Amino acid sequence: MSREPAPASEGAGAERLPGPQHVAIIMDGNGRWANARGLPRAVGHERGVEALRRTVEAAPELGIRYLTVFSFSTENWRRPAAEVSALFGLLKAYVQRDLSRLKREGVRIRVMGKREGLPADIAELVDKAERETEANSDFYLNIAFNYGGREEILRAARKACDAIQHGELAVENLDEKAFAGFLDTDGIPDPDLLIRTSGEYRLSNFLLWQAAYAELVFTDVLWPDFDKSTLEQSIAEFRSRERRFGAVSPEAN
Ligand code: IPE
Ligand code: IPE
Ligand code: MG
Repeated sequence: MSREPAPASEGAGAERLPGPQHVAIIMDGNGRWANARGLPRAVGHERGVEALRRTVEAAPELGIRYLTVFSFSTENWRRPAAEVSALFGLLKAYVQRDLSRLKREGVRIRVMGKREGLPADIAELVDKAERETEANSDFYLNIAFNYGGREEILRAARKACDAIQHGELAVENLDEKAFAGFLDTDGIPDPDLLIRTSGEYRLSNFLLWQAAYAELVFTDVLWPDFDKSTLEQSIAEFRSRERRFGAVSPEAN
């Protein structure tokens, strides 16, 4: 017997399966959104920032506590220099414009990914955003920028080796929990739901460790068109799934 799909929105007496606590999003399709309109790709990225603002606003309203967004991958350096610098400029503008409001609203910002190789002004701004919001705990916004899952795991492995070498950690105590503490998501629960927009079906090196048991939802919506209703639909799909974590379904007997 399969579980009844949960209703997409609250209704009188509706039974609600728990919603995702942590949602991760691969924000994809900005270029195609712009191309379809005969606009430069950069315009698609600008509209993508607006979709990010909408999503950050909608997420806590839908019961989400942690939101992790993929905004620049370690592989995105392969793009033309002008596009890379447009993407860096947009991150800078987003933090500059939204930081004080997010801080007031109780949002804790964390920027995941490799800091080396980032221009000094961006690295400083990112440090400032993390520092100024570190006392907040109402909502967690993790921005993966210059991020690659393999790079993150390697960096964590180096930190673990360093701790072992300095006698701070015994090899036999390096278990999954201890290792996760060296990742950029230290202290953040694993994502329950991972959404990718734009009809692509791959992880593209996002959260390789953390997404081990995430429910994957793929939508054809291009990222600049993403809004609260797309997020609600993804959550409804999440709620219709049965998460077994390797165990036998209680309904199998
Ligand atoms: C997502 O949109 C933004 C980044 C990867 C930085 P894309 O720029 O990848 O858009 P498409 O996939 O070319 O449409
Ligand atoms: C993944 O999208 C990275 C981000 C959304 C930042 P890409 O568009 O770079 O991924 P591929 O190239 O389609 O795998
Ligand atoms: Mg893409």
